[in-house]
Amino acid sequence: MKRVILIGFMGCGKSTLGKKIANLLDIPFIDSDQYLETHYQKSVGELFAEFGESHFRTLEQSFIQSLDLKSDFVLATGGGMPCFGDNMELLNQAGTTFYLERSAKELANRLVNAKSKRPLIAGMDADEILEFIEMQLPLREEYYKKATIILSRDEQTPETVADLMRHLHP
Ligand code: S3P
Repeated sequence: MKRVILIGFMGCGKSTLGKKIANLLDIPFIDSDQYLETHYQKSVGELFAEFGESHFRTLEQSFIQSLDLKSDFVLATGGGMPCFGDNMELLNQAGTTFYLERSAKELANRLVNAKSKRPLIAGMDADEILEFIEMQLPLREEYYKKATIILSRDEQTPETVADLMRHLHP
């Protein structure tokens, strides 16, 4: 079974890497934010604005519980998904979890021009984004670091993930 689950902070590159892994392994790619947007016919920003963050977290948990564990997939999770309730345990049961580790500075640089669709940071300037990440990342890493595999920046390639999957699930 090939079920690859990518976790990590906003902007770490889960979706970009996830698509490449899915291509390489020739299995479907699922992006949880995109799934929720299509399913509820609202953007993540609208879901946050209309129902609040805690409701969004409930939707994320229902999404994990609805995954078809009989089929192969690569899943890019929303950055907060593993950090609420027992989601990290559910994700670890659903597949092989990979934490895409990145420094706060690098994440901040990557997010400055990609903040508008992300309600938690949409109204912040560059300094505020860095401050937010420096505060949140250590809290979230308590969950992220429960991943089966932690990938450093240089290891975040489709080939490395495919090799690790072959090794773990021969
Ligand atoms: C969030 C991350 C986002 C999205 C939502 C909340 C978070 O996903 O689910 O804006 O709490 O970190 P990405 O990690 O894909 O940006």
